[in-house]
This record gives sequence, structure tokens and C-alpha cells, in this order.
Amino acid sequence: MKRRVTKAVFPVAGLGTRFLPATKSIPKEIMTLVDRPLIQYAIDEARAAGIKEFIFVTSRGKGALEDYFDHAPELETSLRKKGKKDLLATLKNTNMDSGAIAYIRQHKALGLGHAVWCARRLIGNEPFAVILPDDVIAAEKPCLQQMVEAYSETGGCMVAAMEVPPEKASAYGVLDVKEDMGSMVSVRGMVEKPSIDEAPSNLAVIGRYILTPQVLKNLNQIKQGAGGEIQLTDAIAQEIEADREVYGYRFRGQRFDCGSKAGYLQATVAFGLAREELRDELASYLDEMKAVRKAAQ
Ligand code: UTP
Repeated sequence: MKRRVTKAVFPVAGLGTRFLPATKSIPKEIMTLVDRPLIQYAIDEARAAGIKEFIFVTSRGKGALEDYFDHAPELETSLRKKGKKDLLATLKNTNMDSGAIAYIRQHKALGLGHAVWCARRLIGNEPFAVILPDDVIAAEKPCLQQMVEAYSETGGCMVAAMEVPPEKASAYGVLDVKEDMGSMVSVRGMVEKPSIDEAPSNLAVIGRYILTPQVLKNLNQIKQGAGGEIQLTDAIAQEIEADREVYGYRFRGQRFDCGSKAGYLQATVAFGLAREELRDELASYLDEMKAVRKAAQ
């Protein structure tokens, strides 16, 4: 089985209800951390991992996403005329090569598994990555790159995993660990959104995957699972049942759940503080806020 991963699927067809009313007209993935949309972070991570083909699973009302990756010749000409080289470079970094991006529609939000299944013809018979753009990961070496490197040794299926407090596990797919090898675990089973008593560990799956094409075949048979959705986790768990290897990869980095308001705000602060031109002003504002809160208590 080929172990080079050159295709990535970006499922962006969800309804984003937690961000209503904004998501009534703005795709969640276009929301910005400082000045870059969530989707740009995902694309940059994929590029760093060697991805060449970018497959977006979209839905109604996501036109702004498609426009975002188009070239903007008028804007570029105007910036060039004004000599704004830095902005021009920033803008050019968002351009994608012709033919590198494909869009496919998910007609109904039937779940993440269904969204990935919608891309099956574009993926074909090779391993592929899945990136959920609302999971943003700050890391020295981008998370997917870490995974692709590990995957070149292991093959099989690989999911990004992180430790979560037991009371939070029910919000995730959770791994039943067969063998713990440090940065990697082999997996005996996976449970989507288990209750506290049912969670087999505190190792939760987050939005980065490297999957074999067999998972797409499994998705052909998968019925609705937890929450009435077609779950990707169930299709990966079938690989384990068929005695094929599934690994959890403990990535190095900090993950922000930008699909939730609190996570999104935390990421905004963290990415703001990471920017030299904003750091001092933002940090002193946060100190001020802390002092105000303390005084109010
Ligand atoms: P979420 O569980 O965050 O759902 O999906 P959501 O619809 O985006 O947001 P809420 O919960 O209503 O606020 C995780 C990822 O899977 C994609 C989403 O776009 C997101 O990137 N997804 C989910 C699909 O593409 N299709 C689906 O049917 C469901």
C-alpha cells in the first residue's frame, strides 16, 4: 500500500449552529483568528505536510469559501501600484494553483462520515488526510506533518489524539488503547461520544486523520450512529474489527476547538499574543481586564 499522502479532504459542510446568527450567512471556516480565516490555517498545515490536492466538501451558502481561494487580480494590481509588497505577498500566499482545489457538495448535513464519503471518487484508491478546519493546532511542526512522518513508518489508519479530562470525554470520539508506545498508541476500539462510565480512556480523537481507502468502502455500509449522524469514527472502528491497524497519534502542539465559542475566543487571544505587532497592546489589555475582575470580586 502506497504511504505517500498527497490528498486531503476538508469537510466544511456543517451548519455551524453554535455560531448563529453569524453562520446564517458566513461560513464558520471563514471566521478569522486575528486576520486569517480558519480555513487558511488548515490549508497551510496541509501544504506543510506535502498535500497537493485539496478537496472541499461544501454545502449551500458556502460560496464565500470558494471565492476566498480565487485569485484577486484587481486587488493585486492596486497593491502593486501602491508598492504594498508585504500585503501583496500575504494575498498571494492565499492563491491556490489551478486544479489543486476541488469542491464537492454534501446535499444534507448527515454527519462527518457522510461528508468524507461524498469525496470518495476524488480520493480514489489511495490513503488520504482529513482536516477539520475548526480544530486549529498551534505547533512548532504542523500537526499533519508530524502525522504524515509517523504514518510513513506505520501505514494503517491514524487519528490525532489528545488527553482530555474524563468529564469532557463525552464530547469526543474516545480511543480504547491496546498498546501505548508513547507518541503513538495502537487502538483496540473507538467509541463516539461515550458517557462518562463508558469512556474506555481519556484519549480523545481530534480533527486530523490519515485514512486508507478501505474506510470509504466501510462508509458505504455505515448506518446513522451517535446523534443520528453517519460517524467517521464508526467506519474507522470497522478497520479494527477487520484486524487492520489503527493508531492514535499524540501530536505535539496546542489544539483550539474553534467550533465552540470559548475555544474560538481562546485561540484569538493565543494567536494575537503570538504576533509581535499585537503582543504588547493585547497583553496589557488582558492585565487590565484581570485587575478589573479582581477588583469586582
Ligand atoms: P461539527 O460537529 O463541528 O458540526 O462538525 P458543525 O455543523 O460544523 O457545527 P455545529 O455543531 O452545528 O455548531 C465538525 C466538522 O465536520 C463538518 C463540519 O463542517 C466541521 O468541519 N461536517 C459536519 C460536515 O462537513 N458535514 C456534516 O454533515 C457534519
